[in-house]
Amino acid sequence: MRLDKYLTKAGMGSRSQVKEYIRGGLVTVEGKTETDCGRHIEETACVVTCRGQTVGYQKTAYYMLNKPGGFVCATKDEKDRTVMELLADTGRDDLFPVGRLDKDTEGLLLITNDGELAHRLLSPARHVPKQYLAVLSGEPSPQQTAMLEHGVDIGEGTLTAPAVFAWKDRQRLEALLTVTEGKYHQVKRMFAAVGCRVLALRRLSMGTLLLDERLAPGAYRCLLDTEVDSLLAVTGLKEPAPGHKEEREHAAE
Ligand code: URA
Repeated sequence: MRLDKYLTKAGMGSRSQVKEYIRGGLVTVEGKTETDCGRHIEETACVVTCRGQTVGYQKTAYYMLNKPGGFVCATKDEKDRTVMELLADTGRDDLFPVGRLDKDTEGLLLITNDGELAHRLLSPARHVPKQYLAVLSGEPSPQQTAMLEHGVDIGEGTLTAPAVFAWKDRQRLEALLTVTEGKYHQVKRMFAAVGCRVLALRRLSMGTLLLDERLAPGAYRCLLDTEVDSLLAVTGLKEPAPGHKEEREHAAE
């Protein structure tokens, strides 16, 4: 396989990005810098590094997308553009978004082909925390924020699980809400239950994964090994790295 294709398939970046890395001298093959994008790579035999990282064709792939508004979280849609169109140059056809953000919601979206991790991250039993930044139409009172934290009725006959509310910027009515469930329109319905409208919504984190603020809306990148390890650890799919006390405790739950 061509070197540029190999690096793209291994998740090192888009075809044009990896070509830049190769031409910029950031890629080695068998220990020597390689600047020829068309260099033939024996997938199972060659040792390749890109930007100091050893590369191998990965069975599992993990990407973080900064979802822009106007895209739906689906692999196919008759009517709307899908988030997968934003990852068209990964060279992979086995990816899917982990869970759904509304069409107008922005921010962190994990895209992978790892079904088991996705299943665990979305499982209601695991209570994986997700933090959202919501721009509100008005200021909730301390009683209303206490209700959000305690749990509110969003029309399902039961209360939502306890959430954590904080102000990011009170003047601008920018609030942070951390929830551990993933019900349809959950954050918007929770604020609506206490009389506030959400004017804009952005996801900032999912479990241990934080939105990389350097990603422009619509841009994506591969997860770092440390980010993958930490997600696998909090979902009990891998032993936590030594020293990661919180992950060890969460995995034991
Ligand atoms: N809650 C919502 O209301 N919308 C989202 O997209 C995600 C969480």
